[in-house]
Amino acid sequence: MQEPDTGGERKRIPSTHISKLQLTDFRNYTSLSLDLRPGAVVFTGENGAGKTNLLEAISFLTPGRGLRRAPYPDVAREGSADGFAVHTTIEGPFGDAEIGTGTAPETANEAGRRIRINGANAKADDMLEWLRVVWLTPSMDALFTGPAGDRRRFLDRLVLAIDAAHGQRALDYEKAMRGRNRLLAEDRRDRAWFDAIEMQMAETGAAIAAARVEMVRLLTAMIGRMPETGPFPQAELSLAGTLEQSIGDMPAVELEERFRQALADGRDRDRAAGRTLEGPHRSDLLVRHKPKSMPAELCSTGEQKALLIGIVISHARLTGEMAGSAPILLLDEIAAHLDAGRRAALFSILEELNCQAFMTGTEASLFSSLAGRAQFLTVDHGSVSATVLPDGMDP
Ligand SMILES: Nc1ncnc2c1ncn2[C@@H]1O[C@H](COP(=O)(O)OP(=O)(O)OP(=O)(O)O)[C@@H](O)[C@H]1O
Ligand SMILES: [Mg+2]
Repeated sequence: MQEPDTGGERKRIPSTHISKLQLTDFRNYTSLSLDLRPGAVVFTGENGAGKTNLLEAISFLTPGRGLRRAPYPDVAREGSADGFAVHTTIEGPFGDAEIGTGTAPETANEAGRRIRINGANAKADDMLEWLRVVWLTPSMDALFTGPAGDRRRFLDRLVLAIDAAHGQRALDYEKAMRGRNRLLAEDRRDRAWFDAIEMQMAETGAAIAAARVEMVRLLTAMIGRMPETGPFPQAELSLAGTLEQSIGDMPAVELEERFRQALADGRDRDRAAGRTLEGPHRSDLLVRHKPKSMPAELCSTGEQKALLIGIVISHARLTGEMAGSAPILLLDEIAAHLDAGRRAALFSILEELNCQAFMTGTEASLFSSLAGRAQFLTVDHGSVSATVLPDGMDP
């Protein structure tokens, strides 16, 4: 990874794209095989046709539970005897890869899905060597007004796209914290046990906070490259969290030690609360609309959407420059809150970023300015075919 060039001339970032997507017993798809092209891919179809399901399938090409965070048994097609399978061919600057993921019936539980890359078993993080996937979904429309946990998860996904170790860090922290919470709940007073767990939480917690702070620094620089009064307003980002706020004020080892001490001092308080009350699992990402100098949560629905899109495209640019390949974007119902001018602006930014961008909508007409520049596909309850564009939209 290299430090992005936030000032000088913009070079074209190589694109990574999914050229083939095959689904078996995935949600409402019994069996599907789709050839896909780089650039914009537009899925249209009526409500319930299976558009978001396609994006969800692609979101499984990155670590985690996908864009719906659904339990895996829900993902397998209802009535199917086996688990689900997603198989893809990826083409990009690092070569071609076959990436497959899915669950077998006996493992179709929360615990995990299997991943195979080029025929060999692989870890979830290994997929990040081939592609990075970032999404925006309608449920994120409430990101700025909703609970801090959603913003934290959003931020951690952004970090993961440029720092592959972040996922493991978060898992290790969560695991240690669950261990501590169990000791608290069971009213165990084993000091050595607490010490060991809190040491682990301090190490991983400080690393998580440092990675988030670095992300906000890099992203802020990238957002600064957008025109101040363009279609997607500049966002001002900051972090609220004891660890995040102290980064830069002291060496990392001291921060770690202070957090360890704070955890040790807070055992009685946390025992009363039944859980750990302090740490990066409580942090928040604060966003302001810079041109209006207003907290994002007070902006209009459309303004919030535009802010969020500005963050995501800046992040895509950052990821492209740092990873050496443009990320794949999943933009579910992206056109919904955008006026025609902003839609057109978004489409040309996506082209400039060289991203394969999957977009969904109920009407192809929302994407009319992309006619001739995108792959249009119609989704119809378990099958997908090339869209017959209406008169006037034919390229
Ligand atoms: N495990 C499953 N097995 C079979 N069908 C499922 C499963 N999970 C979800 N579905 C169905 O998949 C259908 C399509 O869902 P999807 O969210 O992809 O639709 P959509 O095209 O995005 O619709 P909208 O425009 O309303 O967002 C729904 O009708 C849902 O009932
Ligand atoms: Mg949908």
